[in-house]
Amino acid sequence: MHSQLALIERYREYLPITDATPIISLGEGNTPLVKAVNLHRLIGASGMKLYFKLEGLNPTGSFKDRGMTLAISKAVEAGARGVICASTGNTSASAAAFAAKAGLKCYVILPAGHVALGKLAQAILYGAKVIPIEGNFDRALELVREIADDCQVTIVNSINPYRLEGQKTGAFEIIEALGQAPEYFCIPVGNAGNISAYRRGFKQWWQSGKIAKAPMMFGFEAEGAAAIVQGKPIANPETFATAIRIGNPASWQEAELAANESGGLIDSVTDDEILHAYKLLAESEGIFCEPSSAASVAGLIKQLKAGSVLPDALVTCVLTGNGLKDPDSALKSSQVDLTPVKAEAKQLVKAMGL
Ligand code: F0G
Repeated sequence: MHSQLALIERYREYLPITDATPIISLGEGNTPLVKAVNLHRLIGASGMKLYFKLEGLNPTGSFKDRGMTLAISKAVEAGARGVICASTGNTSASAAAFAAKAGLKCYVILPAGHVALGKLAQAILYGAKVIPIEGNFDRALELVREIADDCQVTIVNSINPYRLEGQKTGAFEIIEALGQAPEYFCIPVGNAGNISAYRRGFKQWWQSGKIAKAPMMFGFEAEGAAAIVQGKPIANPETFATAIRIGNPASWQEAELAANESGGLIDSVTDDEILHAYKLLAESEGIFCEPSSAASVAGLIKQLKAGSVLPDALVTCVLTGNGLKDPDSALKSSQVDLTPVKAEAKQLVKAMGL
């Protein structure tokens, strides 16, 4: 029965909500945890128990909905008029959808030319005021911080205290599905909020005795945007994984602590490694995730080779967003000839290569 409750009602004893909080829900959370049947063998770890948390099956197609349901509910409770966010795309889609349901105005500031088309389309259709800037995500977030107070709008980026609290529910669901925590936990890192949120969730249930051990947290930045790995902000981050094209992560310290105190690591993966994992997930498991999401699997492959993840371990990779948001990346990364053939059986069979 509990799955009929909204996500933040289901976990209300762990979240900052009261009877006065109006619950704004789109049916988020409760996403599938799917076991790999092929991929682990293809990466030389046939004994691995490998699970994928399919966050792309949330209502707006990414994990952001877990935090946004709480952030928007609290904004409504506080009497906000509107909300604002900087975004590489997914936060804006989620904020726009929840704001629409709550009847709030939503302002979305995006790095021009670096947001996947599906995400842009979502924010526009949900009715947000979409403003691209001549600058990257980090600059957009600086501007949002600068103007939010004066404009009397609530920031719903992950610097909003409720976002990460909502997002930690992903950890609870993984524990419930496995009956324990995974040994290793792999996740992409952009603004570094999600790894911090999952650590909060795992730590909270470990401290309350619900699990015997919390997982080692492994976070993966894109190599061209690997500020935490390099120990300094990156002025001009670049990666084809646009969702994590971020040079100065807002939750830098909490993410570093999450990795360190859990016995894990924040590392980077190259665009080639991300692309390889992106295709491998699709071709071997039937999972179409975003390029950025595949950074978790790219990182797993790297750590397995380095010997820091054991080949027979229990592992969970979070696949943060739905591949359908970014069909351009899918098509650009595949060399297929789409020239039409004559509509004749003989020509068709020939084109099939039979
Ligand atoms: N994966 C996807 C699909 C994302 O959209 C993001 C972040 C991340 C991973 C990284 O998560 O920032 O918590 O470390 N997207 C943000 C946005 C920045 O604006 O949509 P993070």
